[in-house]
Amino acid sequence: MSLTRLNIEAFRNIQSAQLTPAAGINLIYGQNGSGKTSILEAIYFLGMGRSFRSHLSQRVINTEQDKLTLFATLSLPRGDSKIGLRRFRSGETEVKIDGDKVKRLSTLAETLPIQVITPESFSLLFEGPKSRRQFIDWGAFHSEPQFYAAWMNARRVLKQRNQLLRNGAPYSSIQYWDLEFVRYTEQVTEIRNRYVDSLNELLKGIIGEFLPRVDVKVSFTRGWDSKADFAELLAAQYSRDVATGHTVSGPHKADLRLRVGTLPAQDALSRGQLKLLVCALRIAQGKLLKQQIDKHSIYLVDDLPSELDAQHRQLLLKQLTDTGAQVFVTAIDPAAIVDSLHAPPSRMFHVEQGRVTVVE
Ligand SMILES: Nc1ncnc2c1ncn2[C@@H]1O[C@H](COP(=O)(O)OP(=O)(O)OP(=O)(O)O)[C@@H](O)[C@H]1O
Ligand SMILES: [Mg+2]
Repeated sequence: MSLTRLNIEAFRNIQSAQLTPAAGINLIYGQNGSGKTSILEAIYFLGMGRSFRSHLSQRVINTEQDKLTLFATLSLPRGDSKIGLRRFRSGETEVKIDGDKVKRLSTLAETLPIQVITPESFSLLFEGPKSRRQFIDWGAFHSEPQFYAAWMNARRVLKQRNQLLRNGAPYSSIQYWDLEFVRYTEQVTEIRNRYVDSLNELLKGIIGEFLPRVDVKVSFTRGWDSKADFAELLAAQYSRDVATGHTVSGPHKADLRLRVGTLPAQDALSRGQLKLLVCALRIAQGKLLKQQIDKHSIYLVDDLPSELDAQHRQLLLKQLTDTGAQVFVTAIDPAAIVDSLHAPPSRMFHVEQGRVTVVE
């Protein structure tokens, strides 16, 4: 799966750009502020309906325009697919896939699985558990279709439960919700657990290449004491839940633990090593998707050379090339990428003040 055409209009500083990306490595280069990250952000926006940089989607619309338009042709095994997205300053979003209006943004994500690695997203993975949970759920969502409904249901019931807790409802009226909550939680947890197990298999090899002398362990924690029965725990923790006004333990507290020896990874690794660990996680995730449902992800790697020495740039680019996926990488200096590749990039784009040109 790859993008064979990408049109961007009124997105950040890009007024109008038409790109014809190639399969393999696409290198985007240009000076600070030229619009490199904006191109990756536009691809992400098209696949996810939101930005990876700002939670305020209005900010990505060019300041002089009242709407942005993105359009792409996606080459799939079953033929070409056309995706269009329009976002208005009023907040409205219009999405079309092959001419048909799409209501659920998750349909976009299914069509266009994206792996993004940016200097910001990699530090995110070492902050709160939320982004690590999102990482697991991205994989769970793509690998087992029933995950989406199970998780939506668990969240819906959790919200009801929390509302009752805040109202100080007696346990007898919460008990009914707990039956459902436990059922959905089991489904969600099983899928997440299975997913992390499969991911670990692939991850070992990649981490072994990137960080051969470091003993990294990745494990799943489900969000409550692993020895406890969840239904019993909910009953036992009722008073505490009422006191805090929300459900203290559960699938909404699940996490991915990244450890080096006995230490959390962020305390044990250097910045470059952390970046490589995040790259390994993302690459493993893309590879697993290919194995499980025969679908390629698209990789967006912003400022690939930063924090990495020449040897690790080479290793990273080799791993990305080996995925067989379409990859977009940005750099200020194109030599930092070209010199680390065994073959020239499939295509190079130069960006200057929001204008994009192909470099022959
Ligand atoms: N909504 C907007 N409308 C117009 N311009 C914008 C908007 N949002 C951001 N910009 C501008 O877009 C330009 C491109 O930003 P971008 O982050 O893509 O640059 P970059 O090439 O990735 O730079 P760097 O090498 O510093 O990472 C910046 O100068 C920024 O000020
Ligand atoms: Mg940038």
